[in-house]
Amino acid sequence: MQETSVLTKDSQPAAIRDFDLSLDIVRVAEEAAIACYAEIGGGDEKAADQAAVDAMRTALNAIDMDGRIVIGEGERDEAPMLYIGEKVGTGKGPAIDIALDPLEGTTLAAKAMANALAVIAFAPRGGMLHAPDTYMDKLAIGPGYPQGVVDLDWSPEENVRSLAKAKGVDVSEIVACVLDRPRHDSIITSLRKAGARVHLITDGDVAGVIHTAQPETGIDIYLGQGGAPEGVLACAALKCVGGQFQGRLVFRNADEKRRAESLGLSDFDRKYMLDDLVSSDAVFIATGVTHGALLRGVQKETSARGEVFVTTESLVMISKTHTVRKLSMRRPLVKS
Ligand code: FBP
Repeated sequence: MQETSVLTKDSQPAAIRDFDLSLDIVRVAEEAAIACYAEIGGGDEKAADQAAVDAMRTALNAIDMDGRIVIGEGERDEAPMLYIGEKVGTGKGPAIDIALDPLEGTTLAAKAMANALAVIAFAPRGGMLHAPDTYMDKLAIGPGYPQGVVDLDWSPEENVRSLAKAKGVDVSEIVACVLDRPRHDSIITSLRKAGARVHLITDGDVAGVIHTAQPETGIDIYLGQGGAPEGVLACAALKCVGGQFQGRLVFRNADEKRRAESLGLSDFDRKYMLDDLVSSDAVFIATGVTHGALLRGVQKETSARGEVFVTTESLVMISKTHTVRKLSMRRPLVKS
């Protein structure tokens, strides 16, 4: 099998090269999270998102790489910054594709609720699907199950029954994570009819999907409709930690289909598997904006001498080596 590395032109071993770039890019997520800090709980989703976008773009452009945004803030006509297709980095260095969500959970941050994240993933050019900004039907489970144990085309009830059998537990021991939306009423009813427990989240399905691969969260399966870009980001994470994902784009109107076509997609009913969405090795990075089950949020403290410091916590996951790191960073709030 051909070896895929996130970087190509270097004499270092691939794993080291990926790690080096990861450290550069974790700073990008850290800066986005720190930039949002002032907006946490301020009720202004747009201001929080804009702060994260500005900081992420500035930090990305300082890195020696030939970066291209494949999942970003939207199409060029609607997003002046970090739009799909935008080139980022100095242009010198490895050719990589970047998927990002500077603030995943804008409402969570604006309302100071748990689990807002700054998220970024990267892969060699062509390694991640250019997903349009539409919804996606999603189904995810953690690692350790055989292929075919769940299926996006089955009812939620069938999925949790099959998963319970494979896990060797009663279906009442299965916890399904679902975004709390009226459009999910029938999914929730089907899950409860089967006897499964339903863990509702108000926002943030990237974390929701990742939780299926974290036994300590107790979540076994993620189901429901959320953003397609977030689906690709979550797949980059599952690629690193294991697990299964299936997704299908959901189009609400002709314009959304046109957007998909403009990104080169033609089979609108396609069921995407994890490897279709992230086809090469990838690196997934998230920094906590607000405290959550995945990461601690940004913290600010003032020293006895009156200096103000910020501390962040980030997750850095590398699929090639299946490495998962948690990094803590502390620096003065005002950079010298
Ligand atoms: P934003 O950060 O763009 O607000 O997205 C948050 C989120 O909850 C995603 O995690 C999820 O995929 C999507 O919104 C769900 O969309 P909707 O709020 O329209 O149901």
